[in-house]
Amino acid sequence: MQQTAAPAVFPRAKSFPYLGIALDMRIDPLRYFLKLYREHGSVFEVKLLGRPIVVMAGLEANLFLSKHGEDHFGSENLFGGLARELGSEAFLVAMDGVPHRHQRKIQRRGFSRETMQSNLAAVMAITQEYVDQWSPGTVLPIFPTMQRIVTDQLGVLIGGRKCGDYFDDLWVLLNTSMKVHILKTHPKFYLSLPRFVRAKQRVKAFSREVMDWHRQNPPVDREPRLVDDLIAAVDENGKPYSDDTVMTGIAGAYFAGMDTVASTLSFMLYAILSQPELTARLQAEIDAVFENGGLTPEALRKMEVLHNAALETLRVYTVTPFTPRTVVKAFDFEGYHFPVGTEVYIANAIPHFLPEYFPNPETFDVDRYERPDHAKTPGAFAPFSLGAHTCLGAGAAEVQMMTLIATLLRTVNLTLEPAATPVTIYANPLPNPGRKFAFRVVSKRKPI
Ligand code: HEM
Repeated sequence: MQQTAAPAVFPRAKSFPYLGIALDMRIDPLRYFLKLYREHGSVFEVKLLGRPIVVMAGLEANLFLSKHGEDHFGSENLFGGLARELGSEAFLVAMDGVPHRHQRKIQRRGFSRETMQSNLAAVMAITQEYVDQWSPGTVLPIFPTMQRIVTDQLGVLIGGRKCGDYFDDLWVLLNTSMKVHILKTHPKFYLSLPRFVRAKQRVKAFSREVMDWHRQNPPVDREPRLVDDLIAAVDENGKPYSDDTVMTGIAGAYFAGMDTVASTLSFMLYAILSQPELTARLQAEIDAVFENGGLTPEALRKMEVLHNAALETLRVYTVTPFTPRTVVKAFDFEGYHFPVGTEVYIANAIPHFLPEYFPNPETFDVDRYERPDHAKTPGAFAPFSLGAHTCLGAGAAEVQMMTLIATLLRTVNLTLEPAATPVTIYANPLPNPGRKFAFRVVSKRKPI
């Protein structure tokens, strides 16, 4: 990117001394960043617990991330702490350049849409196992319930087994590491608390069990999984990865959906159950599929309402509303100079709320994608971020969400508990509807 004499002084958003925007960000961070974008434009600086962060927002920011992100941004400063915590020298999200591209290729197959599609029966069966334990009148917190189901499903997909009793350890490790290392909203001493240390040890023990099992049972008469690919891989210079790196890759795969997919699904259930007309449309589409050959990859591809409900949830309730990065090569953007070392948040979901790309953006409208005038502006829809680190599991996540919702709406009638409406979006650290947000099982419906 050409560099000019543009200033490295950015418009600054007002905030509290020291805390900065920490309190404002706690509820619905996306709408808060949208407000700041409207006040300050596409570049502005915020303070977060004493640290200056420059926000790049709007379509041009997304296009910059997509086209030039790999040249100018680094991920090591943000995710490297988490990698070191786990003893990995090649943790995908913390890597850049050639080693990153190489590692991405290794993991592509294990995380692909096709791999999720070939495990559709297992994904449905796991949802059914949970539903079987619910009786009419049962009230369940939606986010934690979705976390369990999703993590069991991803566990079977990538490692051939559910995480079982290790679920809480995985969650403590992921959640604390994100707050300390990535968002830096919590001090480092959290990493020496007994709860965290124990969780880390147990996740390592679990990852080792999964790795050892796959070493002893290579994929001769079964489909290879992500764990097999991690074990067989060598780095870009032909050197095998260490056990710790393989184990971190395994833990990372168990982490992949427990926040992102589970939270998105919780908001999707909110959007569906709070609109009875949409619930009825979805049930009709889903029943038709189950009564005409069942839920197959081909059937899923044709489920327009369900697919659009997933897209609309990803747009309106984006759970990864900004992409944190550090500038590693200076550049100019929109008249401002970004020196090396600048901490940047690319607010990738801002265009989701700009009417030029999504008319009446605040309306949850599953039909918008079918209208002839719906312009698919490149870079405007970015729930999985953009560029070199774009979510590798985006296709798999879409299939997983559609399959889980189809199975739930087919087998059980649910209502939202009164306290769940309207939903509150907490950032903890990713946006989620909180632990009290609940549904009630009204009655059983039909078998899958
Ligand atoms: C709704 C669900 C999901 C959302 C919103 C989401 C979002 C994201 C985002 C925004 C990134 C980019 C992070 C960055 O640039 O720093 C990312 C990366 C990634 N995601 Fe997802 N994700 C979801 C589900 C999944 C699932 C189910 C999987 C695995 C099956 C997965 C695997 C990955 C991997 C491996 C990366 C790292 C890619 C890289 O660094 O090159 N994600 N995800």
